[in-house]
Amino acid sequence: MTVIPGDGIGPEVVHEALLTLEALDLGLGLDVLDHVNADAYLRTGTALSDRDFERVRASAATLLGAVGDPRTDGTDYARGVLLRLRFDLDLYVNHRPARLLHDRLSPLRRKEHRPLDCVIVRENTEGLYAGIGGRLRPGTPHEVALDVEISTGHGVERVIDYAFSIARRGVCMVDKSNAVRNGGGLWQRRWREAAEARPDIETTHLYVDNAVMQLVADPTRFDVIVANNSYGDILSDLAAELAGGLGAATSANLNAATGFGLFEPVHGTAPDIAGQGVANPVGAILTAGLMVGHLGHRDAAKAVTRAVDRAIDLERTTPDLGGDLTTAEAGAAVRAELR
Ligand code: NAD
Ligand code: IPM
Ligand code: MN
Repeated sequence: MTVIPGDGIGPEVVHEALLTLEALDLGLGLDVLDHVNADAYLRTGTALSDRDFERVRASAATLLGAVGDPRTDGTDYARGVLLRLRFDLDLYVNHRPARLLHDRLSPLRRKEHRPLDCVIVRENTEGLYAGIGGRLRPGTPHEVALDVEISTGHGVERVIDYAFSIARRGVCMVDKSNAVRNGGGLWQRRWREAAEARPDIETTHLYVDNAVMQLVADPTRFDVIVANNSYGDILSDLAAELAGGLGAATSANLNAATGFGLFEPVHGTAPDIAGQGVANPVGAILTAGLMVGHLGHRDAAKAVTRAVDRAIDLERTTPDLGGDLTTAEAGAAVRAELR
């Protein structure tokens, strides 16, 4: 197993996730790439070397904290690490579950609307993230910037198929096909074909502006939401907060055909709280649980979720979840419940 702690709070939360994995005693060998970070990029100009890329590719699964730093904003650093791994390993699904952590952590006014339990399935290798575009007349008053949003039939079909493969109640496809005609039309056609093939599943379609409103109004109506790369990015931060907090949200970047996975909490490097020892480790810990579950250790994965639930019940949490523990104390509180 490869580990990329990354930047900011990445190493702080990954440390707690690794202590959790140690406590589970699964005999996982760890290859920690702690030299992949913004400091090294600023020094060498290399975000992720080919050698490190191969180490990730050769491993059973990879856990990543978060990458990014105010000093690398506007550079190709995040693209060079995170998007390179997602694209070059063809991790076409970004599976982002959101399940309410505790009643007290929900920002929703009506109690019956609180218990959300859904998965955002984000297309992960296309869309606006493909890096296709360019600039004309840069630096002049007539500068033009182009970022082309790519959707392919193959890419849309496989991510919609994944959404149906994990659905329990229903799948909702989210797009903006009323305004974005070409890609929208392609998503619509693939969606209709897939929906017709699965009459056993409730299927709905929403435009993205309506979808964010519906998620806030009553998230309990959603089971699986499938969307393109950008909409999935935005919907998953929203769902994370509705579930109790971004600091606890998990994600799996998957190639559903090969089973290869890169696992990372949904949150970023949180420069505003980095180095203070107050980052919530629960997102990273639950993500490590998701990862070992994916590797076949189902009981260990359940034990992690149960331990986190109990620690949250006991209000043994960091400040973002209303507690007063440090990162290390919150990690220890989860491990104390691991049985
Ligand atoms: P962010 O997710 O880092 O932070 C957003 C807000 O949530 C901040 O107020 C932060 O303090 C809070 N937060 C996030 N995680 C938390 C945690 N574990 N515990 C407590 N509070 C937490 O988003 P941002 O500020 O937009 O981005 C900061 C940097 O991270 C940027 O460089 C961005 O590109 C990068 N980023 C990386 C990833 C990744 O590697 N997977 C994901 C998102 C953002
Ligand atoms: C995420 C992050 C990344 C994304 C950034 C850091 C490029 O926000 O993993 O959600 O937009 O995919
Ligand atoms: Mn994001």
